Amino acid sequence: MHDAMKTGQSKEVMGRIFGELLDYTATHFKYEEDLFQKYGYPDSFDHKKAHEALVNKAVDLKTKFDRGELSINLEVMSFLKDWLNNHILRTDKKYSAFFNSKGVA
Ligand SMILES: [Fe+2]
Repeated sequence: MHDAMKTGQSKEVMGRIFGELLDYTATHFKYEEDLFQKYGYPDSFDHKKAHEALVNKAVDLKTKFDRGELSINLEVMSFLKDWLNNHILRTDKKYSAFFNSKGVA
């Protein structure tokens, strides 16, 4: 998405990539949440809330983008990148020890 933004791709291309990013994120979050459910991860409530907050924010941005009220700029890219980095490095990291102890790779 960053590459597409930098090379000035059309709104259609940006919209498609944005949609794919949302689909991928939703699929990935669902996969994590299914594992939480399956193994009884104790922090799943807060973790799911964090997923929901990002999805809501990203869907909101996509809606504005589709309506022509938002263009994908560095600010939007930074928000998504920072949020994902923060989530992966902090929130997702919290479950590593738990899942390792359950033998889940
Ligand atoms: Fe997560």
